[in-house]
Amino acid sequence: MVENLKDQFNCIFGGDGDLQTFFAPGRVNLIGEHTDYNGGHVFPCALSIGTYMVVRKRTDDIVQMHSLNFEDLGVICFNINELEFVKAHDWANYPKGVMKMFNEAGLTVTSGFDALIYGNIPNGSGLSSSASLELVTSVMLKHLFALNVSMVDMVKLSQKAENEFIGVSCGIMDQFAIGMGKKDHAVLLDCQTLEYTYSPVKLENASLIIANTNKRRGLLDSKYNERRFECERALGQLKEKVEITSLGELTVEQFEELKNTITNEVDRKRAKHAVYENARTIEAVERLQKGDIAGFGQLMNQSHTSLRDDYEVTGFELDALVEGAWSHPGVIGSRMTGAGFGGCTISIVENDEVDNFIENVGKIYKDKTKLTADFYVVQIGDGAKQF
Ligand code: GLA
Repeated sequence: MVENLKDQFNCIFGGDGDLQTFFAPGRVNLIGEHTDYNGGHVFPCALSIGTYMVVRKRTDDIVQMHSLNFEDLGVICFNINELEFVKAHDWANYPKGVMKMFNEAGLTVTSGFDALIYGNIPNGSGLSSSASLELVTSVMLKHLFALNVSMVDMVKLSQKAENEFIGVSCGIMDQFAIGMGKKDHAVLLDCQTLEYTYSPVKLENASLIIANTNKRRGLLDSKYNERRFECERALGQLKEKVEITSLGELTVEQFEELKNTITNEVDRKRAKHAVYENARTIEAVERLQKGDIAGFGQLMNQSHTSLRDDYEVTGFELDALVEGAWSHPGVIGSRMTGAGFGGCTISIVENDEVDNFIENVGKIYKDKTKLTADFYVVQIGDGAKQF
């Protein structure tokens, strides 16, 4: 794969000089959905699929980038002194945004470079191909320009690029999982303090299966922002009664006592999900660590129900896939993963049933939605790196 990419780099950019290669994974969240921007916990892991970048430094100030995933867009060129959002630059705005955030943090990009990019995360699937592109850019900049910056700071700068340069108000989960991921482990992250611990994902005789709805996710950003706004409004009312800075600080019991402070019923449901999902995430990790895979799976199912009924971010396709999974023997747990409104589900399936699961759930889904789902057996990989 990498040798092939280097050959392609030489075909496109020609010339000589050392090539450097970088990789950043995609991510899947096992539990803890829509909790990151509410100051709660998340439990994602890095995937073995991701984004590759082959790079060579230039002696002038020009950046030339080409993506094998968007060949029609050709080579995209810009100057390191003109780091502005340009619509026609499309995907290249992500690396450009990261460069701008590095510069603003005093981590100066001192010359141009040529870069070839290839990603094997299905686009728009909710497995974080954009955060992966941000982090592969971050590690590339660190090494190419010998910058003294930690992985956690690169995670924060990548999120800042997405928030301020791209204009998507995501939380920190995706960038953190992709930067800090560890092979065969998931990471329990407290999004309020950024304290984290790794947990081995040992599922005995079972595997993690991602299923992609292949549904186009229209209006995702506006619905995502609407949920954030509803949670902030609920928090605003709760703050009149109790001293908190985020919903993640409340226990389930405290929430039940205080919930009628939230006057709008919809806001109350959103806040309920945020508080209960946070508690579920902490409990789920405890169960996994004790080897109680069935208990972990039940909490995954509850997470989906809460995202469906209280947070209302699932929709027909995700519900069809998850309900199909719940009806299949040997399924220990199944839920939507990521922002929702389309994208993927994650399920724990007994190894003996994996092939039947793919066939049977794929069929149920197609009958209901007329769409074809794609299935992947998850391999948990390392975070972003040079190699
Ligand atoms: C998207 C965002 C994350 C997180 C999830 C929902 O993936 O980028 O920050 O909010 O949705 O859990």
